[in-house]
Amino acid sequence: MIETMPKTFWQEILSKGVHAMTQGMSSDECIKVTEQFGAHNYHPLAVTLVEGDGSWVWDADGNKYLDCVGSYSAMAHGHRSKSVIDAAREQLDHLTLTSRAVYTRELALFLKALCEYSELDMACPMNSGAEAIETCIKLARKWGYTVKGIPEGKAEIIVANENFHGRTTTIIGFSSEAQYRSGFGPFTPGFISVPFGDIEALRRAITPNTAAIMMEPIQAEAGILFPPDGYMAAVRKECTAQNVLLVWDEIQTGFCRTGKKFAWMHEDAKPDLMAVGKALGGGLFPVSAAIGTKEVVSVFHPGDHGSTFGGNPLGCAIAIMAMAEMEANDLAAKSEVAGKLLLDGFSAIGHPSILEIRGRGLLVGLEFKEGTDTQKLVGNFLKEGIITKETRHRTFRFAPPLTTSREEIDEIVSRTRRAIEAL
Ligand SMILES: Cc1ncc(COP(=O)(O)O)c(C=O)c1O
Repeated sequence: MIETMPKTFWQEILSKGVHAMTQGMSSDECIKVTEQFGAHNYHPLAVTLVEGDGSWVWDADGNKYLDCVGSYSAMAHGHRSKSVIDAAREQLDHLTLTSRAVYTRELALFLKALCEYSELDMACPMNSGAEAIETCIKLARKWGYTVKGIPEGKAEIIVANENFHGRTTTIIGFSSEAQYRSGFGPFTPGFISVPFGDIEALRRAITPNTAAIMMEPIQAEAGILFPPDGYMAAVRKECTAQNVLLVWDEIQTGFCRTGKKFAWMHEDAKPDLMAVGKALGGGLFPVSAAIGTKEVVSVFHPGDHGSTFGGNPLGCAIAIMAMAEMEANDLAAKSEVAGKLLLDGFSAIGHPSILEIRGRGLLVGLEFKEGTDTQKLVGNFLKEGIITKETRHRTFRFAPPLTTSREEIDEIVSRTRRAIEAL
């Protein structure tokens, strides 16, 4: 199938279906084809997954793993959550894509549910996390010019060193990670970066032209880094005092990942604007949004912004069910309890190669000391049936689905202990 594509290939797909056509491809073949035809912008583990169920995934050779990457924290509901899949199936039988040229019932209910869930007033639906961030940047700047009165072209947004907000050219332009920027300039001006967690540095960076402060409440991609206690509340206070918008990027931390609906709720640091995505798609579909106060979101007028797929009925139906699951099954409480178990379990491992264990809810980082063979560790984890990868700074991410049971958490801990002891 791979070396040459027979002329009958497309007919075969039509008659057999896509799933049947992919069966029989070995893991080696998948890797070879992906590397040949795909851009090399990722360095995946040498594992080809074929099935998922709850906290578990299976590879093409029948090996079973606990999924601790959790699709970079997007897999909150567990693989193939029944209610989310049912919502998608049901919607597939009615209406899937319309564009925003018309209204749909699903979009109406989605927007209302999302605003209620988020305790904010209005939302702008998008697809990927990076788009939600771009939307926040545009809203913040336009608010800065039209409401705050910043002179045209002068709006500044303060961000944090070591941020990760996505991969568009504007967003990488204010990244402090050299590789994210190298070769991709010139970049969009108007961003000022300050050390994360340093409230004095933040205060000093604010000028009359500051439209917004935009940060992650916990820097997940940078290695699950936490600001000092009280920082989020202090940022909120500063923003209010200086007439600056507070924008939290809750794309990774939102929707119960850290044991509360949103990470800002740990300090009651309610934002004026918030970017969400990942888990909103129920582990199924890209759904993101910028959500904010009426004062901010209503600066958009027809033609200011848009997305062909943003707010499509299929995505909306999925996201509504994703939020219903989170509320009805109290995934925030589940995440908090399971996260504590995981932290306690990791602390009890007590291996000399571990430098630090940090986490909140089911967003946990296990940082190893310099000199630890992290490549070997990745292999050891795989051998033990755990999918995890390093973020930056030798920190392994543990972000399993929020539905992971107590027994499965115990499994993660004992397998992790074995993987580390085999170093
Ligand atoms: C905090 C944060 N913001 C933004 C993004 C970008 O989201 P996406 O990959 O859906 O564009 C990510 C993705 O990892 C993220 O963790």
